[in-house]
Amino acid sequence: MVSGRNLKRVHFINRTLLGRQRKVVDMGTEDRNEYVDIGEDELLVQSKYMTETIEERNDLIRACAKLYKEAGGSVPALRVSAHQKLVEWPLRSPMPAQFTTLDAAQPWVLYWTANALTLTGSDLVDQEMQQRLVKKLEALFTSLGYAGGLHQLPNIACTYAAIETFVLCDSSPDAWSRINRVALYQFLLRLKEPEGGFRTVCPVGEVDARAMYTVLSVASLLQILTPDLAKGCADFLLGCQTYEGGFGACPGGDEAHGGYTFCAVAALAIIGALDRADTRALLDWCSARQKNEERGLSGRTNKLVDSCYSFWVGGTAAILEAYGYGECIDKDAMASYLLTCCQDTYGMRDKPGKPADFYHTNYALLGLAVTQYNFAAGETPADIECTPIGTPDICPINPVYGLPAKNVRSFVAHFRQA
Ligand code: FPP
Ligand code: ZN
Repeated sequence: MVSGRNLKRVHFINRTLLGRQRKVVDMGTEDRNEYVDIGEDELLVQSKYMTETIEERNDLIRACAKLYKEAGGSVPALRVSAHQKLVEWPLRSPMPAQFTTLDAAQPWVLYWTANALTLTGSDLVDQEMQQRLVKKLEALFTSLGYAGGLHQLPNIACTYAAIETFVLCDSSPDAWSRINRVALYQFLLRLKEPEGGFRTVCPVGEVDARAMYTVLSVASLLQILTPDLAKGCADFLLGCQTYEGGFGACPGGDEAHGGYTFCAVAALAIIGALDRADTRALLDWCSARQKNEERGLSGRTNKLVDSCYSFWVGGTAAILEAYGYGECIDKDAMASYLLTCCQDTYGMRDKPGKPADFYHTNYALLGLAVTQYNFAAGETPADIECTPIGTPDICPINPVYGLPAKNVRSFVAHFRQA
């Protein structure tokens, strides 16, 4: 494999997978190992026609270059306890009034915060906290799925976040028996459209790759992924892949986007249809999301890097790696963006100049995990294996579900027997 940063790096691992032998193809274009000593001005994007987009990108390149210079060529350590302080906050005390914007996303706040704490080995998510989480989730359960807040409609995004939170509750003895699988299965069936897609909310929500991933994720974790639910999913997802190689929200020509690409790729992995996608174009598209100057990943063409895409795109790369398609991102460079440019005083931020938040803290930490392990397929997507590279700060993760690998394995084992 070619090493260096300025690469379109696609390395196919020669192994038998899904009944086919893959050839090793190295696609390195240039070997350039240092990037710190380049003068800041040389890094800037030069164009005869300056646009607002180019100026914003140059501002960001300058901000990152300054931080890399200050770090003097080394990568700062992850300030675990400082970041834990931010995500402990909603679990310890009532949120101030300006957080009403999260009133319809309560299961998400629980997932982002409890997950970030578990990923970093905090003992706050102990048995007692897990019981509190379960109680809160039960209050958000309607007769079908989970709602974002009290007296709101159930939707699949909040149901996904609620089930993800349940997965984290592995030491509360009866937590998992509080999940009403029969009602949830009826809810998932109701969201199904005749053409194969799923709605986010019944009967008015969007039908897109996000809805499909969240349905398939919940169904596979709870072991209720029936042929009725899976029908038409592969064709729907494959139709979302665009000429660029990434996936858009809906079949038929949306713009490729990191969030939807993750949803489509993870969903294809869940239904065992990843090899039907154009994985070569997908690997190229993921590689193109990483910027040499900032070292982080953007969500789509001509947009700025953002730490959450270190999971939306980095997690996609980890899934591709697990299934033998090779590595398409530079993990060291991504780690250096996260650790040098995205650590705020408390919590992780999108990029320099932005404040930290729960969402970016969770996904930046998951992205950091992608850089700290190698991934290999197991018997099912729930069994994807992680091998540490060096000494990780983050526990082994399952990239399909964005959760600690250990929790996913025991949750699925529990429902296999139920
Ligand atoms: C902004 O896009 C959108 C996001 C930051 C979220 C995208 C994530 C998803 C669609 C994945 C959702 C996943 C689940 C599990 C529900 P933008 O294109 O406006 O922002 P940009 O400036 O980063 O490009
Ligand atoms: Zn973001």
